[in-house]
Amino acid sequence: MKIVLAGGTGQVGTILNRALTAAGHDVVVLTRRPLPRAVHWDGATLGPWAKEIDGGDVVINLAGRSVNCRYTPANLRAMMNSRVRSARVVGEAIAAASRPPRVWLQMSTATIYSHRFDAPNDEATGVLGGTESGVPGYWRYSVEIAKAWERTQEQAETPDTRKVALRCAMVMSPDRGGVFDVLLRLARLGLGGPIAGGAQYVSWIHDRDFVRAVEFLADRDDLSGPVNLAAPVPLPQRTFMRVLRAAWGVPVGLPATKWMAELGAFVLRSDTELLLKSRRVVPGRLLEAGFVFDHAQWPEAAADLVRRVR
Ligand SMILES: NC(=O)c1ccc[n+]([C@@H]2O[C@H](COP(=O)([O-])OP(=O)(O)OC[C@H]3O[C@@H](n4cnc5c(N)ncnc54)[C@H](OP(=O)(O)O)[C@@H]3O)[C@@H](O)[C@H]2O)c1
Repeated sequence: MKIVLAGGTGQVGTILNRALTAAGHDVVVLTRRPLPRAVHWDGATLGPWAKEIDGGDVVINLAGRSVNCRYTPANLRAMMNSRVRSARVVGEAIAAASRPPRVWLQMSTATIYSHRFDAPNDEATGVLGGTESGVPGYWRYSVEIAKAWERTQEQAETPDTRKVALRCAMVMSPDRGGVFDVLLRLARLGLGGPIAGGAQYVSWIHDRDFVRAVEFLADRDDLSGPVNLAAPVPLPQRTFMRVLRAAWGVPVGLPATKWMAELGAFVLRSDTELLLKSRRVVPGRLLEAGFVFDHAQWPEAAADLVRRVR
């Protein structure tokens, strides 16, 4: 198949590009940077790049300003604009194509769901975020970004192309600079303890299951709309990190207060929402459709990732 990966140069794009190329697909990456073997776009307006989509089989749009930053008003706006504009222009390219792709997989995020501890969120019964009390106002804005991202895809007029929104949890891979790499480094430094009590849930997906789920959704003509991409068993952050420490063999993990997390995030130019928001998300639709996770449990998945890092 010809697969177009818009914004395919980042962490998730690298995982997909590697796996899909190895599986024999013709993968075309759209990027704003002058990179060899990639096609240039600006992520906002139609251009010659659109002919890659015309006649392609699958479009996967991952583009968006990184969320690993301080949530300043300017960064939040850039996070919103880059996602909405890139989704809009991908929709325009598909609408203008004489041979539109079969399917458009649009990245979304598990962050769309509410900050909650009491029950898991699947697509049917889950509660979308935005109305929780006692959370910082800007957390609401990241939910707004996710909703606007999905709405842009929904509103695109692409009658011959199936549309799926990937409500994706943190993708754990052994690659340098990825989420797993950062968490493992913290754990190895003895800093992988509970943060602010550690009751907040971590939703995650092993990189190979992520790729398999994307392939599954690309193939299954009966599935459209939002789909959660997360392993079936999210864990409280303190348990999640304890398991990771055990997988690497680190005996201690110092706990951090919310305050210390604020300070650490400030130093790392990141934001505590990534650490403190409870993301309790489960893959209702994938399981219902018969998808079987190879790495459903965190202890086994963490052990596999550690083995690959080593
Ligand atoms: N990593 C995860 O675990 C995870 C989980 C759930 C959802 N997501 C979402 O999935 C997407 C991909 O994640 P990732 O971790 O691969 O992110 P990433 O490493 O930050 O890569 C995102 C890509 O988007 C492109 N981009 C950045 N700013 C842009 C802009 N203003 N306009 C157009 N394109 C822009 C960049 O490509 P160029 O610089 O080459 O143009 C970059 O390679 C993101 O939208 C992220 O929010 C990620």
